[in-house]
Amino acid sequence: MDMLQIPKIGMGTFGSDHISAGVMASSVKEALAIGYRMIDCARVYNNEREIGEVLAASKIRRSELWLTGKVWNDMHGKTNVIKSAELSMKDLQTDYLDLFLVHWPFPNHHPPFAHVDERNPNAVPYIHEQFMDTWSGMEELRRKGMVRHIGVSNMTEAKLHLLLRDCSIRPFAGELELHPTFAQKELRSYMEQEGIISIGYSPLGSPNRPERDRTAEDVVDMNHPIIVELAKKHGVHPASICLKWAAGNGIIPIPLSTKVKNLRSNFESIHSDSLTEEELTMLEAVDSNNRLIKGQVFLWEGAASWRDLWDEDGTIAGGKS
Ligand SMILES: NC(=O)c1ccc[n+]([C@@H]2O[C@H](COP(=O)([O-])OP(=O)(O)OC[C@H]3O[C@@H](n4cnc5c(N)ncnc54)[C@H](OP(=O)(O)O)[C@@H]3O)[C@@H](O)[C@H]2O)c1
Repeated sequence: MDMLQIPKIGMGTFGSDHISAGVMASSVKEALAIGYRMIDCARVYNNEREIGEVLAASKIRRSELWLTGKVWNDMHGKTNVIKSAELSMKDLQTDYLDLFLVHWPFPNHHPPFAHVDERNPNAVPYIHEQFMDTWSGMEELRRKGMVRHIGVSNMTEAKLHLLLRDCSIRPFAGELELHPTFAQKELRSYMEQEGIISIGYSPLGSPNRPERDRTAEDVVDMNHPIIVELAKKHGVHPASICLKWAAGNGIIPIPLSTKVKNLRSNFESIHSDSLTEEELTMLEAVDSNNRLIKGQVFLWEGAASWRDLWDEDGTIAGGKS
């Protein structure tokens, strides 16, 4: 089986409650024309059918495309995971996915347009045995050849450690929030040491993320003065600096855009001059633990704050190993 190498940049497709499936699909069409070959999809983005139509019409050979899919929190468990992958494959009009991820390590879901204070009364903390049941479905998909690689998203070192201890097939990649002001250096170096590829989401600082994910202290990377200054020096948009930062740190970024100009500039940022070692070192100074996607809506009753989702002190909040 010929394996396509994972591309250096992908296109994000999370409409974040305000971009319709039709608009997203036309943006994917533009992205393919520019040269993007990796599309970051997810069941919960509710646009796989429209994207699938664009992929089919594009006439790009399937072997040249990298399609990532994700199982949403309401389809955890071995049987459901397989069902979810089948639904994504049907909508995306493909007979395999290049990469399939567990979108969040919790089976906690929320309705679309959920408010930041909305809680699912059935939400639970991380339960490792349940996660491993879900992972066994992922492994089954890999064994059957329905997906070429399997991986995780929104995991922490503590949770990854348990997964690596107990899995039969290791995760190929992890998708996580990564941008210069949220560099997650320790987690990335742990993943690198374990041979797990980092795919960086919200690489530009997600200026249009849902209202529920905004707080007054948040910084949008594209507006950070050091990034703006460096962009001026290079004669590029600050978005380019964020993407070059990702590439320079071995991260595969998956920026979203609905504008041809931005899609093109983002693609070119990865395929043109890199930042120097000195510039990359300078950018380490902007890291301010600026997590934008906090995940409040996934919290369970009794959780202290969104920080409980991220195991900041190295232990899994409310969980059992
Ligand atoms: N695994 C997960 O849990 C998870 C979570 C969040 C996101 N993701 C994935 O990561 C993707 C990207 O993250 P994101 O959408 O949150 O944020 P992002 O890529 O950091 O930011 C996207 C925003 O930046 C603007 N933009 C893009 N290129 C630009 C440029 N060159 N100049 C100026 N503005 C530009 C876009 O607006 P325009 O449309 O106007 O260009 C868009 O609103 C998502 O679409 C999704 O696929 C995954």
